[in-house]
Amino acid sequence: MAKLIGSKKVKTAIFISGKGSNLLNLIKSFKSRNSKILIELIISDNLKAEGLKYSKIYEIQKKVFNYKNKKVCEKNILLLLKKKKIKLICLAGFMKILSKNFIRKFDGIILNIHPSLLPNYKGLNTHKRVLNNKEKYSGCTVHFVNSKLDSGKIILKKKVKIFKNDTERKLAKRILIQEHKIYPKAIKKIFY
Ligand code: GRF
Repeated sequence: MAKLIGSKKVKTAIFISGKGSNLLNLIKSFKSRNSKILIELIISDNLKAEGLKYSKIYEIQKKVFNYKNKKVCEKNILLLLKKKKIKLICLAGFMKILSKNFIRKFDGIILNIHPSLLPNYKGLNTHKRVLNNKEKYSGCTVHFVNSKLDSGKIILKKKVKIFKNDTERKLAKRILIQEHKIYPKAIKKIFY
């Protein structure tokens, strides 16, 4: 794994589609002046993503891309990432799947957080499936992004116990608390 050596900051873009609690958490985790991670850009496919509000609050540039034509859209995202010298992408509730071409062309590392214990329960509706299968544990995973959905090398995982009276909402909430702990930890594991 290519670590970025020296005191140079790692310019980072966070991709979101919704609430952005992981985005907020990463902003807070890396806001200190001597942090090696510099969050420079928030990218979204959704103009109405709640998390876009953090752009103004924390003075981070945001850009919303229209995914109607995915090929054109990804090309434009890549151009912007190159222009801004972004070397790390953190997917944080980003609901579009990056194409193989995008992943190949991006000159840096792409990470994702997924709300299950990968390799189990890849894809959508994880909590629902986990509860239907009466699992004892679920959790969350930070992993590198490769061309197969939720299948890249795992960096960190955290188990969360499932209770008898759990609902999707309750479980999602408890898992999110752990997501906020392991995402910054996983980034530090790579870059620090
Ligand atoms: C998180 O559960 C994340 O694991 C999943 O989408 C959710 C995003 O939440 N990929 P938020 O937008 O960061 O609050």
